[in-house]
Amino acid sequence: MENIEQNAQNPIPERKKRIFSGIQPTGVFTLGNYLGAIKNWKALQDEYDCIYSIVNMHAITVRQDPAELRKRTLESYALALACGIDPEKSILFIQSHVPAHAEANWVLSCSTQFGELSRMTQFKDKSAKHADNINAGLFTYPVLMAGDILLYQADVVPVGVDQKQHLELARDVAERFNNLYGKTFTVPEPYIASSRGGGKIMSLSDPTKKMSKSDENPKGCVYILDEPNVIIKKFKSAVTDSDMEVAYREGKDGINNLMTIYGAVTGFSMDSIERDFEGKGYGDFKKSVGEAVAEHLAPIRENYSRYLSEKAYLEDCYRKGAEQAERIAQRTIDKMYKKVGFVAR
Ligand code: TYM
Repeated sequence: MENIEQNAQNPIPERKKRIFSGIQPTGVFTLGNYLGAIKNWKALQDEYDCIYSIVNMHAITVRQDPAELRKRTLESYALALACGIDPEKSILFIQSHVPAHAEANWVLSCSTQFGELSRMTQFKDKSAKHADNINAGLFTYPVLMAGDILLYQADVVPVGVDQKQHLELARDVAERFNNLYGKTFTVPEPYIASSRGGGKIMSLSDPTKKMSKSDENPKGCVYILDEPNVIIKKFKSAVTDSDMEVAYREGKDGINNLMTIYGAVTGFSMDSIERDFEGKGYGDFKKSVGEAVAEHLAPIRENYSRYLSEKAYLEDCYRKGAEQAERIAQRTIDKMYKKVGFVAR
């Protein structure tokens, strides 16, 4: 992991450090979402005070079918539980259940510059992809995201590499607000797995592109609920190179990606993977990666069906999560409103 340092000279703080992160409910989570973010969310639960959100407000920056969004939000919540987010240890809530997110968004918009938002590469990509719907929300999306993080005074934010720029903006906005109005927000640190560590999982059909739900080629993206035989098939057809060596090296994007995925699900180092597959063909390697991924994801599929069928339990969890989140977020909103000069009711 980069960007996280344990300073041996500083005493261990009394309060556990706080984590915030979110995921959009725009479909089944991909293997990229899982290895780049959720797997870390799970691992961090004991060491940190964790708050995780299904960010449905972010999802409507591109057009959604309302019934489908409602369904996917609940499915994503169940999927987060199935991936090991434990509601007894962490707060897991649905973003729109906590009104402070919309409120923070407005106040922080007034501390964010048009120029800063114009530089966001994700806005440029998404506005090219959705040229018929370049709405204001798509443009100000990083402000909503900054609010998510700052409302909870998060110390650390685990995300994949693609969210790094948004996180830097959140830090800039926090610092600007603090300088203008006095200390209000904790300035969050990113927690980003290196690309070798799963921070940027690439498409299996085009390893120069990020693995994403919007991949045009269905073989490029692995979903964490895919059946084992589907997963194995997708890996078998993964694009590699004309070389014959399983080695992590510049220019071998396809193999590098497969090695990263294999390392992330098995815990094997790149060196040991290279040794194990020395002299073997890509066919063997792809088969092993597919099988290892299918095996790793099997318990998640089982847990997911169980959680989804326990409707009352799910409702109980997301209501409790919203209450817990709201308590923290409201304290920050009250502070923000006071600082900017709003009259208390
Ligand atoms: P989203 O929903 O696109 O993705 C959720 C998480 O998955 C990571 N990710 C990947 N990591 C590695 N390789 C990939 N191919 C890959 N694809 C996705 C993302 O980096 C992310 O960590 N804006 C955010 C959601 C958000 C958020 C927040 C995150 C809203 N508010 C506050 C952190 C803190 C997003 O759209 O992620």
